[in-house]
Amino acid sequence: MSYSVPDFDPSLKGALPADFEWGYATAAAQVEGAWNKDGKGVSIWDTWCHEEPSRIKDASTNEDAVRSYDFYKEDVARMKEYGVTAYRFSLAWSRLIPLGGKDDPVNEMGVDYYNKLIDELLAHHITPFVTLFHWDIPQELEDRYGGMLDKDKYTPDFVRYAHVCFERFGDRVKNWITYNEPGVYTLAGYAAGVHAPGRSSYREKNDQGDSTTEPFIVAHTELVSHGYVCDLYKREFQPSQNGTIMITLHGNWSEPWDKDEPKDVQAAERANEFEIAWFADPLYGKGEVDYPASMREQLDDRLPKFTEEEKRLIRNSSEFYGMNSYTAFYVKNRGDQPADINDHKGNVEILDTNKAGENRGLESDTPWLRTAEWGWAKLLRWIWNRYQTPIFITENGTTAKGEHDWKPKSPGDILEDPHRIDFYKRYLTAVAQASKEGVVIKSYFGWTFTDNWEWTAGFTDRFGATWVDFDSPEKTRYAKRSAYFLKDFFGHIIQK
Ligand code: BGC
Repeated sequence: MSYSVPDFDPSLKGALPADFEWGYATAAAQVEGAWNKDGKGVSIWDTWCHEEPSRIKDASTNEDAVRSYDFYKEDVARMKEYGVTAYRFSLAWSRLIPLGGKDDPVNEMGVDYYNKLIDELLAHHITPFVTLFHWDIPQELEDRYGGMLDKDKYTPDFVRYAHVCFERFGDRVKNWITYNEPGVYTLAGYAAGVHAPGRSSYREKNDQGDSTTEPFIVAHTELVSHGYVCDLYKREFQPSQNGTIMITLHGNWSEPWDKDEPKDVQAAERANEFEIAWFADPLYGKGEVDYPASMREQLDDRLPKFTEEEKRLIRNSSEFYGMNSYTAFYVKNRGDQPADINDHKGNVEILDTNKAGENRGLESDTPWLRTAEWGWAKLLRWIWNRYQTPIFITENGTTAKGEHDWKPKSPGDILEDPHRIDFYKRYLTAVAQASKEGVVIKSYFGWTFTDNWEWTAGFTDRFGATWVDFDSPEKTRYAKRSAYFLKDFFGHIIQK
């Protein structure tokens, strides 16, 4: 797909408010590299990829990733060229506090790196959005007490880490995110056991863990520790620093397989509740602070209970709704059989086509991800109607087939990526339309700035707006056409 600015839909012109922020999102473990440089401690992802290469699709490690630690200045200059107004990145806890704990020393070289990055962004008039936790807990805390499985030991450590960040960076950082996708951290790490720290009930895969209980315990720890960190920020830092704090939740839309079958309609709603309302109801819901009734019904006392203090801390702690979403699925009720003990999705079957044979969307280079802007449009309204909280879209994007084989012909060569342009155009058109209808949306961050180290996919999933030559020592960057499309399209849909 090629595009031409004069052809952009005139009805979308200026659909988004003038203060709308847009840019790209990244995560420390996926881009920084310098995994053991300048005093950085070991995180669970460092351990996970070094211990057993077969856990990562291409047996790679994140030792160098894309070396954004070394090339942050060039990266910021490139972002400026792409026209962004904001950049969302995460801090590596083990770079700042190598051992992680509340009484452990701060690594000044780590502080220095993030100070330089923040200052570089501000010098280019790019607003930093900073995530405290994007899945890379210090290994030491895992070894000391099992990380998030021990809420009472973990919470003071996370609160102290946050305190250090607010104290050192809060004079310049005004947009804080406590957790990135607490649900994916817990489901992939403690239910499926395919992400660090790699725990599950499946002994052929993981030595330890219990998929029937641990995911819900860890999720509870995330909510509670998030609550304490928001409380700290609002009491001690917000009055002088004037920033905001939120959490980012994941969520792909679930659509009934047969829209005329009430059981499928209920199943889809249940799937959305298991995936999204699991965290969002306690945070933004109305009435009693609790997990959704559909989850209580299926999981009973495997779901932890909130104490009165936790209820007070969690409800309305997050000032905005941080939203990550990529795709949509069709779901079918799983007969009337009782749910499997290892089920985390609400007892549904997940499908690529619906009853009418319609496919959920165009394939990307990643099996679970298809272009499904129709579901994204529904999700935006579902979140807005249920929670009435302004939305910051903090991640959305796609891979595209064939990008591994591309060979740049010259230093300034640009990769043509029509699939990604089409994806962004459809999703952003839905954002502009929802906004015109009154859904309050305040930001959009594409995933992601450069091709990167995609967790267990290693270097095999290329999500970037920038193509990276992973074989070159400098991880040389080349723009993809979609980077310029986004600049032009936002120029059209954001009010002047
Ligand atoms: C995560 C990213 C990840 C992306 C693509 C999101 O779930 O926040 O870290 O790389 O999806 O898989």
